[in-house]
Order: sequence, then C-alpha cells, then structure tokens
Amino acid sequence: MKKFRKLSNMLLLATVILLASFSSQASSLSFDYPKFTEDLYNQFKHDGPNGSVFYQDAIQVTPDTNGGEMRNKSGRIWYGKPLKLWSQKKNVTASFNTSFVLNITPQPPKSGNPIPNNLTWGHGIAFVLSGQADPIPENSYGSWLGIVNETTTGKTRIVAVEFDTNGNYSEDGDRNHVGVDVYSSRSIVQEPLAPNGVNLSSGKDVAVNLRYDGIAKKLDVYVFMSSDAGGNQSKKPIISMNISLSDLLPRRVFVGFSASTGEYAELNCVRSWSFSSTKIDDDGNLLWLLGIVIPLVLLVVVVVSVVWYKWRKRRRANDVENSMVEQQIQSSASAPQKFQLKDLKRATGNFDSKNELGRGAFGIVYRGVVMNKEVAVKRLKNSGNGKQEFIAEVKSIGNLHHKNLVKLVGWCHEGNELVVVYEYMPNGSLDKMIFREADTRVPRLTWERRHAIISGVAQALDYLHNGCANRVLHRDIKASNIMLDSEFNPRVGDFGLARIVMSDGKTHHSTEIAGTPGYMAPESFLIGKATVEMDVYAFGVLTLEIACERKPGVQIEENNYGNRIVESVWLLHTRDRLIDAIDAEANLSYDQELQVECVLKLGLACCHPNPHERPSMRTVLQVLKGEADPPPIPKERPFFIWPAMPPVGVNEIMEESLATGQLSPISFLTSGR
Ligand SMILES: *[C@@H]1O[C@H](CO)[C@@H](O)[C@H](O)[C@H]1NC(C)=O
Ligand SMILES: *[C@@H]1O[C@H](CO)[C@@H](O)[C@H](O)[C@H]1NC(C)=O
Ligand SMILES: *[C@@H]1O[C@H](CO)[C@@H](O)[C@H](O)[C@H]1NC(C)=O
Ligand SMILES: *[C@@H]1O[C@H](CO)[C@@H](O)[C@H](O)[C@H]1NC(C)=O
Ligand SMILES: *[C@@H]1O[C@H](CO)[C@@H](O)[C@H](O)[C@H]1NC(C)=O
Ligand SMILES: *[C@@H]1O[C@H](CO)[C@@H](O)[C@H](O)[C@H]1NC(C)=O
Ligand SMILES: *[C@@H]1O[C@H](CO)[C@@H](O)[C@H](O)[C@H]1NC(C)=O
Ligand SMILES: *[C@@H]1O[C@H](CO)[C@@H](O)[C@H](O)[C@H]1NC(C)=O
Ligand SMILES: *[C@@H]1O[C@H](CO)[C@@H](O)[C@H](O)[C@H]1NC(C)=O
Ligand SMILES: *[C@@H]1O[C@H](CO)[C@@H](O)[C@H](O)[C@H]1NC(C)=O
Repeated sequence: MKKFRKLSNMLLLATVILLASFSSQASSLSFDYPKFTEDLYNQFKHDGPNGSVFYQDAIQVTPDTNGGEMRNKSGRIWYGKPLKLWSQKKNVTASFNTSFVLNITPQPPKSGNPIPNNLTWGHGIAFVLSGQADPIPENSYGSWLGIVNETTTGKTRIVAVEFDTNGNYSEDGDRNHVGVDVYSSRSIVQEPLAPNGVNLSSGKDVAVNLRYDGIAKKLDVYVFMSSDAGGNQSKKPIISMNISLSDLLPRRVFVGFSASTGEYAELNCVRSWSFSSTKIDDDGNLLWLLGIVIPLVLLVVVVVSVVWYKWRKRRRANDVENSMVEQQIQSSASAPQKFQLKDLKRATGNFDSKNELGRGAFGIVYRGVVMNKEVAVKRLKNSGNGKQEFIAEVKSIGNLHHKNLVKLVGWCHEGNELVVVYEYMPNGSLDKMIFREADTRVPRLTWERRHAIISGVAQALDYLHNGCANRVLHRDIKASNIMLDSEFNPRVGDFGLARIVMSDGKTHHSTEIAGTPGYMAPESFLIGKATVEMDVYAFGVLTLEIACERKPGVQIEENNYGNRIVESVWLLHTRDRLIDAIDAEANLSYDQELQVECVLKLGLACCHPNPHERPSMRTVLQVLKGEADPPPIPKERPFFIWPAMPPVGVNEIMEESLATGQLSPISFLTSGR
C-alpha cells in the first residue's frame, strides 16, 4: 500500500501544479523595472551576449560591443512571461498601460565615412508584441528595425510602435517620428515628434506611455522628453488610433523591444519599463477546471489504483504459480536450463519469421543462438490450458534421455509466454527427406539409412513406452516430428502432445484425442483417449512411409486422408509382391530384399485394424534387430470392427456375436476402397 500512497500523492501534486498553471495563466501581466541590473537578465527571453544585453542599468537593445563594430546591427529582447491578450470564449481583450524611457545616443563611426551633415544616424527602436518570442531575424538591421527582415516582412504576426531616427520609405515623414507598424517595419500610422518638442536622437531620455483600451480597441501613444514630465508634456496623445490587436495577434503575446543600426550607428537603450494589464476574467476556465478536471483526476486516481491493485494481486498469484511450475521442473534430475524471455527474444531476433523452422500443433519453432550454440526455440501457442501442457512437456522431456530423442536444452515461463528450447537439428525433419516431390537435389536415402531410421524411431518409442519410469505416449508420431541430426540419426521430437501415463496404463492426465490425419488408428475416433496401440499404428504408417519413401495417404478432401499407403502395401502383400513397394533405384541385394519384406510386414502388422493384434514396441524392436520374425498378418486386410476383439479367430466371434445380438459391431470399410 505504500507504493499506492506514493502514486496518489504524485497525482495530487500533479493536480495542484495543473491548478497553479491554470490560475497563473488567468492572472494579468504586471511588472515594473526602474532599472535593468544584470541579475534581472534571466527574467527576459534574449539572444545571449551577442544580442541585447543589460549594461549600465539599461537594456542595450542593439549590441553595445566594447569598441567593436556597431553598424548594421539589430537586437531584440522579450519579457519572459506572455501577456494574455484576449479570450475567445468571453469575447474580451485585455487593456494594458505601459511606460518606458528610451535613450538614443548617436555614435560617430569608428572608421570610414564621416556623417554628412544632411544625414543623421540610425535607425531606431521599437516596442513589439508578437505571439512568438522569436530570436532576432538575420539581416534585420537598418530600416528593418529588428522587427522583420526581407523574408519575414508581411509574414510575421508582429505589431510594433516604432521610434524611428532614420526613415527609409518615402512616406516616412522625417528622421524623428513615431509610428505603428503591422507585420512589417512599415508604419500604418505615423506622427513627427519635433512638433511635440521631442528629439529622439538628442541623447536625452524620452518617456513613452502606451495605453491600449481592450474594450474600445483604441491605442494611445504619448511621447515626451523626460525632462518635460509633469510640466511641458503634452496632455494629448501623439497617436490615437483604432486598432484591434485581438484580430492582429494571437491570444497569448510576448512584449519586448527591438532596435537596429545601419550605415550610421546609435546606442539604443531602454532605461526603465513598467507594464500592467487588466486581467482577462477567466472564471469560465476555473469553473471548467473545478467541474471537469478535478473529477477527472479523481477518476484517474481511482482507476489507476484499482488497476494497480489488481495487477499486484495477479502478479503475486503469478509469482506463486511461476515458482510452483519452476519447482515442478527443477525438482526433476538433470533439469533443463531456465532461460529469460529477453534472452530468447534476442536469440531469435524477437521471434522473427525469417528464423522460423516450422509450425507444430502447439506452436511455432524458431532457429536461435544461445551461448554460441544453435537451438530450436518453440514458442507455445497460448491456449487457455497452455500452462498444463507446458508443464507436461517440460516435465516429460526433461526427464527423458535417449539417443533417439530430441534433447530439451531449456525452457522459459514468463507471464503468458511459454517457451521451450531444444537442441538444433541441422538436417531438419524427416518428411523433407522422404517426401521430396520432384526435388532431385535431395539424394534418396539408401536402404541401410532407411532401416537405421526406422530402428532409431522404434528404439525411441520403446523407450517412451517401456523404458522410462512413467510411460509416455507420444500421440503424434509422424515424419515431420522425426528430426535428423548431423549424422542423419533420427531424433523423435515434439512432445507437445505427450502425457504422463502411469505404468499401469491408466491415464494420468486428460488425453483428448490428438494426432495427424493419415497416422491415426481407426479406433482413435471411437475412444476418447490415447493408447499405446495408437502410437504403434502411427509408427506402422511411418515405417511404410520411410521404407517406400512416400506419403501416408492422399488427401481426399480437407482433413480426410485415405490410408492409401497401408491399403496399397497390404494389397501387394496379398499378391505376394511386397518388394514392388520399394523403388527400383534402390538396387537391393537378396539379403536386403528379405529385410525389406520383413520391415514391410512389420509395418503392416503395426497397422492392423484390430489394436489387439498390433505388436508392442518391444516386439517391433526384436524384429528389427533380426531376433524375431514379424508377427503373422492375414493375406487380406481385415475389416475394422468395433469393439475390437482379443486375438482369437476374429471371424468366428463376429458371427457368434451377430447371431446372439449381444454386440452391435460398427464396421468400417477400410480396405478395398
Ligand atoms: C558572439 O559572436 C562572436 C563573434 O562574432 C562569436 O565568436 C561567439 O561565438 C558569439 N557568441 C555566441 C554565444 O553566439
Ligand atoms: C551595411 O550594410 C549595407 C547593405 O545593407 C552595406 O552596403 C554596408 O557596407 C554595410 N556596412 C557595414 C559597416 O557593414
Ligand atoms: C465580440 O464583441 C464585439 C463588441 O465588443 C462584437 O462586435 C463582436 O461581434 C463580438 N464577437 C463575437 C464573436 O461575439
Ligand atoms: C497608465 O500609467 C500611467 C503611469 O504609468 C498613469 O498615469 C495612467 O493613469 C495609467 N492609465 C491607465 C488607463 O491605467
Ligand atoms: C545631402 O545633401 C547634399 C547637399 O547638401 C545633397 O546633394 C544630397 O542629395 C543630400 N542627400 C540626401 C540623401 O538627402
Ligand atoms: C530573415 O530571417 C530569417 C530568420 O532568421 C532567416 O531564415 C532568413 O534567411 C532571413 N532573410 C534574409 C533575407 O536574410
Ligand atoms: C530603403 O529605401 C530604398 C529606396 O527608397 C530601398 O531601395 C531600400 O530597399 C529600402 N530599405 C529597406 C530596408 O526597406
Ligand atoms: C536632435 O539632437 C541632435 C543631437 O543633439 C541634433 O544634432 C539634431 O539637430 C536635433 N534635431 C532636431 C530636430 O532638433
Ligand atoms: C516648455 O516648453 C517651452 C517651449 O517648448 C520652453 O520654452 C520651456 O522652457 C519649457 N518649460 C520647461 C519647464 O521645460
Ligand atoms: C475610432 O472608432 C470610434 C468608434 O468606435 C470613432 O468614433 C472614431 O472616430 C474612430 N477613430 C479613428 C481615428 O478612426
């Protein structure tokens, strides 16, 4: 709960800051600088030491370079906080009243041309209002007054009151005037100052008072020599004009000064500045704040805390579950290694489809590299009961060690991700070798190799069924689940469907039917559980496939395979022509032909429609080693009869039961299609 309190405190703090920022925006802009000492510089937005600076208690708007070039310069400075000029919602514009003292002192050129007596100096200073506190535009010296330059003139939302000491335009009355400029340095209204007793470039202080009436949309400009203050100063404004600043400027504006020099230079100083504006009544904002923002914040606090609480609870549960799963796995001897998800992601390029090796019933397999070793990373599909399957898979494989089984290198269980890591099989899966289609680049397997593969798979299955402490059913034996190592030894893989089965044969976990069409024993569809005999049947189909190098069945329609390989091989057996099942290219010796017949008969025995007639994997192994003959198989492929009878003359029992009516056999015509 500590964390939660911290979280809610943070949210409260955020609310307070939000409130504060809203209320500060609603307040008026007001300041008073009787002088500009350097410590106040940071309260302004400026262009640094090469721009406007504070020097000798004044703003040196154009650079006051120590003995350096002062010609063709411009500078600009803004007060740090914006003025809220107008409000759309309440349709009001702020009124403001600002006073400042200018001092403009002509500077003789350091070198070059002397001032001709019909020229004065340049260029002037301006009070500016703009939506952006932009730095000074390049090349805004001379008559641009630092307001705009050739590129930005007419394109910048800037309004200025200029105090011009060097007019350039023909309409500029004289070199001592005041004007109002909109989006440029060109005045829309201007008045000469001399008639008002003001000489801007006299080097003496000039006082200015600007008053803007936000209701009447009226601007009044008063200019007078500071020495006249209180006495000779004009009682009437020099400029009084109707101007709607709310139409010309954005809602929020910065206020400041700009100035420039040209071919002839002057010092452009602002000695003092005061500003005050009316408050734009934003009660609406405050109400909006109280009515919406606060409830919203409270809602967020509630939602976040609920989500957080749930997440924590789930994480705790997950932790317990995870550690239980871990214990289950780690408790087994020679446990596979636990990996971190991020390491496996890195190993597989974040499960990049480029690294995909194949897709199994339970997930996608990717090639990866961990600790400089190639591995096959199987990312399990996240089904509802994926965790149980995961436990089953890791447990069963972790405990199994056989030279013909794919070894489990490690596993990972993080959140909903269930991943297993197998050793990498460089030669891929068996189906690619035997179902080559027309790909002649893949060499055919020699008979010895085929026999070795069949024997290897048989050993692995015998180990699973009879060799380990708990019987394991594979449940999905097929060519694509048999991997080939670097020496083409078969390795049985994909234990995704494996279930621990008690040695007494009773199923331990649920065993819903699973498998691949073409490999499934006929009874699979009638009994809802996996059996040893079903594994044997699938092995029989696989044996015929490997021996004949052909697919188990032809797909008749979607998910419907005729067990053609079993039918056709059995038909050859009926005709005593089993050897014809093998391709002529195989070039078999007489001994090998005998072996071929033996293996094919074994395969057919495993595919007997009656599960009770199928040999055990132990018997299969003995036959393959040449220690026993293949079990006898009928010349004709028997019908599939259910329930299957124990192996005593099947036909007699069938007739008897039909006669007594005790049994209602379901027969499937699985031969002679
Ligand atoms: C100021 O200008 C000088 C010379 O033009 C230059 O070397 C220096 O880097 C500039 N300083 C800044 C902060 O722009
Ligand atoms: C000032 O700029 C003008 C052109 O705008 C140029 O002709 C003049 O030489 C420049 N003077 C100095 C001192 O840079
Ligand atoms: C805002 O108020 C002015 C008068 O002060 C009026 O002329 C104008 O039409 C109003 N604008 C809007 C959008 O209400
Ligand atoms: C503006 O300020 C000046 C002094 O700075 C003051 O005399 C004048 O009354 C003010 N005008 C308004 C409308 O506030
Ligand atoms: C400056 O004065 C001289 C002579 O007095 C005149 O020829 C010249 O045109 C004047 N220049 C300007 C820009 O007025
Ligand atoms: C005007 O100023 C802008 C911004 O500093 C700059 O990008 C542009 O090049 C300038 N125009 C000229 C003609 O110098
Ligand atoms: C000043 O005026 C001259 C001629 O009237 C013109 O060529 C020049 O562009 C003007 N300078 C500025 C910065 O507008
Ligand atoms: C303004 O003052 C300057 C400097 O003292 C002087 O040269 C100039 O003639 C004066 N102008 C007027 C119009 O009095
Ligand atoms: C007021 O102005 C007149 C002429 O403009 C001048 O003679 C007089 O000395 C001034 N008075 C003061 C107190 O500055
Ligand atoms: C400004 O507008 C008012 C009406 O709002 C009008 O009486 C006055 O003459 C106008 N002033 C100018 C200089 O246009």
